[in-house]
Amino acid sequence: MSVSSLGLNEVLVKLFGELHSENILVISSKGLTERFDFSEVLNSLRSEHQIEFVSINSKLPDIEAVERLRAQTREFLPQIVVAIGGGTVMDVAKSFCFLSNTPISRYREVLASKTILSHNLQLILIPTLFGSGAESTRHAVLYVDGVKHSLVGSHGDKHGALLIPELALSATRDQRLSAGLDAVCQAIEAALSVLGSVEDKELAFKQLDNLLENFEGYVEGSDLKAMSRFAKASSEVGYIMNSTKTTAPHAASYFLTSTYNIPHGFAVSLTAGSFFANLFNNLSQLEEGSRKTVLAIQEIFLKHNYPSFEFFLRIFLEGARDYFLQMESGAEKDGQFVESWRGAIDPDRLTNHPRILEKSEVTEILWNSIGLLKSFQ
Ligand SMILES: [Fe+2]
Repeated sequence: MSVSSLGLNEVLVKLFGELHSENILVISSKGLTERFDFSEVLNSLRSEHQIEFVSINSKLPDIEAVERLRAQTREFLPQIVVAIGGGTVMDVAKSFCFLSNTPISRYREVLASKTILSHNLQLILIPTLFGSGAESTRHAVLYVDGVKHSLVGSHGDKHGALLIPELALSATRDQRLSAGLDAVCQAIEAALSVLGSVEDKELAFKQLDNLLENFEGYVEGSDLKAMSRFAKASSEVGYIMNSTKTTAPHAASYFLTSTYNIPHGFAVSLTAGSFFANLFNNLSQLEEGSRKTVLAIQEIFLKHNYPSFEFFLRIFLEGARDYFLQMESGAEKDGQFVESWRGAIDPDRLTNHPRILEKSEVTEILWNSIGLLKSFQ
């Protein structure tokens, strides 16, 4: 991963100058294509390379987007994939590469098998938002019939990332806020995950510290140095997550995003606050390592003048309340809402959480998340 102070045009010219392959697929989002004119720079590069440009118009990384991309590039047969965009573009590009040796007719079968997928494509990821660290992980989120799956690729040295901090200025403040909250939650989950080593935890603490230090400068888009440091920290968290994976807050968030279109970072932070509070309130039941981790996380928030993680969330989530209105009215009308929500949580991911939770306790934590929203009124 490298951080560049150049703009996207200059980075693409430099990057393509270093690529030897001829068939290069460039993937971006419809939103970015409307804000950024790729045609001029790509045309200038076409004398040296065969370039196919595809703009993706999906809100979520779903299997249909990957199938469409596969159909669109059937004749072109790319050797290199350059993906420029937010989380959805990253995930669709990764899934496209991971599934490139699989016939479309076998996609669902391969997804169910949960095997590590090898591929021959070179993948270069250029994120426009910094939060998920998707450019650093070998996991890709893929929705099939509204249900979230996780694909794992063995891309190793075939996978590179380029960070251009100023690209985040092309996103809205809400998009940067959602991504920023996602990064903070991911750093916390990486530190807490039972799959993490002592080194993973130490790195996660360090990056959480960096994220909080540069959070406002990144979200407000007011400080390019802060944006650059935030981009690097969120990408580092992505690397740590290759081994720690996500835990309970992420597992509980996907239902909100797929059912109510709540941006990923907002959905995760709504649940993260309550899961963390549950750990903090049950410190005596945690084994020593996890207890120290919870207290160390609390210390990092204090260092940055936030009395607690929940306090931090309150400040930044209150302004995003409108995104939750549909979910809140769903919860009011449907007596079974929280039970359906709990039922949609992947139990596998709950096992990464540092405390075994009974079903009734998960239900209580989800109610507490709704309580946080109500406290904004
Ligand atoms: Fe995330």
